[in-house]
Amino acid sequence: MALISTLTPVFVAILCVVVAFILKTKRRSESPSAQKSSGGVGKRTEDRPWVDEDLQDDTEITGPENEENDWAETGTEDLPHIPYTPCRYPEEEMLERSKHFYALLNKRRSVRFISPEPVPREVIDNVIRAAGTAPSGAHTEPWTFVVVADDETKHKIREIVEQEEEINYKQRMGDKWVHDLRRLRTNWVKDYLDMAPYLILVFKQTYGIMPDGKKKTHYYNEISVSISCGLLLAALQNVGLVTVTSTPLNCGPQLRVLLRRPANEKLLMLLPVGYAATDATVPDLTRKKLEDIMAFV
Ligand SMILES: Cc1cc2nc3c(=O)[nH]c(=O)nc-3n(C[C@H](O)[C@H](O)[C@H](O)COP(=O)(O)O)c2cc1C
Repeated sequence: MALISTLTPVFVAILCVVVAFILKTKRRSESPSAQKSSGGVGKRTEDRPWVDEDLQDDTEITGPENEENDWAETGTEDLPHIPYTPCRYPEEEMLERSKHFYALLNKRRSVRFISPEPVPREVIDNVIRAAGTAPSGAHTEPWTFVVVADDETKHKIREIVEQEEEINYKQRMGDKWVHDLRRLRTNWVKDYLDMAPYLILVFKQTYGIMPDGKKKTHYYNEISVSISCGLLLAALQNVGLVTVTSTPLNCGPQLRVLLRRPANEKLLMLLPVGYAATDATVPDLTRKKLEDIMAFV
């Protein structure tokens, strides 16, 4: 009897630990990110995990929920605010500028025939500077642009991409997707990865790493980096260079390792960049009219 009463607090403690463990496990399985990877929100994950894993959106806030205490505290220091001087133009000039910018961007096409002719490095630096002006959630700037000019590395990238893309086309994408791409005449052979003087690989940082090794939440990292890619495309168009917006499925991890990028970075886009080849052709596509893409209320 004395033994039982002595052990009672021990039994209660063990019981509490077991109950806490069960509750925690249950909560984790109900969290949106867990649902996403187990087929809740993202039902398709079960169907084609190889696609969804590559396309996954990391906009959910993961930092504060992380049990390990390895997330940095958000800084509380007050930022000074400074006067902002906008560019403002007379209405007539605004109209001219809007037409001119539209005409410039309307000439943008995905070009898969790229000349090996060299492009000044400083131009590439500046287009990436332009891409880096994109807005980002809580000013986290969650992007890394890896510029590859080295021929051997470009070729290794091509080998990885072609190997995976061949499997994508033949096994993973499904008949409908392959059929939809047929009219664009794309396939898994990517000459442009050797030909283009530069490959720009855009990585999203799913979280940041502080100098003390703690993680920093990168809110809306996927959409922020996508906006930055849009600016990059516009900046390339502005200097007369071409690219293909490419998102080779299943290549991200291998390319990340090849380029020695850290685990918090995921490949979002691979852009071969250069001048269009003199005999370049593009599919004869037309864009939707304004009334088909805009609702005015
Ligand atoms: C998110 C996204 C992913 C794309 N991925 C690829 C790709 O992996 N390979 C490719 O050849 N083209 C890819 N494209 C290019 C599209 O096929 C191209 O933008 C579309 O056909 C319209 O042509 P345009 O860019 O000339 O206007 C992608 C485009 C977008 C927006």
